[in-house]
Amino acid sequence: MADKRNTLLFHLSDIHFGLEDNKALDWVHQEIAERRPQAVAITGDLTMRARNREFAAACHWIQSLDVPVTVEIGNHDMPYFNLVERFLAPYRRFNSIQGLIEREIDLPGIAIVPLKTAVRAQPRFNWSKGWVSRRSLARCLAAIDALPPGTKALVAVHHPLREVGTKGTALTYNGYKALCALAQRPVLAVLSGHVHDPFDISEDTAHGPVRMIGAGTLSQRIRSTPPSFNELTWDGATLKVRARNLEEVPTRDMQIDDVPENALPPREPGEPVAPVHQVPRTDPPVH
Ligand SMILES: [Fe+2]
Ligand SMILES: [Fe+2]
Repeated sequence: MADKRNTLLFHLSDIHFGLEDNKALDWVHQEIAERRPQAVAITGDLTMRARNREFAAACHWIQSLDVPVTVEIGNHDMPYFNLVERFLAPYRRFNSIQGLIEREIDLPGIAIVPLKTAVRAQPRFNWSKGWVSRRSLARCLAAIDALPPGTKALVAVHHPLREVGTKGTALTYNGYKALCALAQRPVLAVLSGHVHDPFDISEDTAHGPVRMIGAGTLSQRIRSTPPSFNELTWDGATLKVRARNLEEVPTRDMQIDDVPENALPPREPGEPVAPVHQVPRTDPPVH
């Protein structure tokens, strides 16, 4: 059971039902049953290709958890093969699970607030990258501003908000703008997925730093670390992150030092894994 004095949250991401890792999912299911986190946040890419059967499998698994769950939409959760549906009703399939999930989760002194970064189309070649629209950001900021005084926000996104800085490697359009706005609010951290490796970094902005926490994947589409999820503990003053994995790799070895430059997942299994940008480790953070 969770320590009564602390808030325990599980941060899962990129399960990719259709290409999920069933051994890892069974383990996470058991962990949730035993530890009883107050909430589970899933930061997108619930499915592989947004197929109806993949959403049905996701529903079945989420329903079996018996704890509050919030799910943010990922780029893989919009129709991939049906372009007409992608343009006209991009969120219809994802919204079919709305009855199961909470949009915003409020816990004592802390709230999980969504910020959508996956969009149906973009004026650039690769639509799988992140995009924060003006409307999505405004909705997120309004939700944060409406929280009771003293409440801290955990902002749930799919794509990491950090702009890497060079053409072709920027992850999320308007990501820096969003970070600047979040830095001016009581935001504990931004929780994300998409890159399939866990991280816990502080991103500087003109308005102060913002903590960015990424969860790994629970799918077979692993990058540089085994399937994992993040265990977050909030004691009212400090947010601790522990990357959990079946292979018992220590958290600091699980957490990559930087968001990979190329955060695009390979299209299909069997395709070469995208290279991971590794910054030489000097003094790894311990959380
Ligand atoms: Fe993914
Ligand atoms: Fe993704």
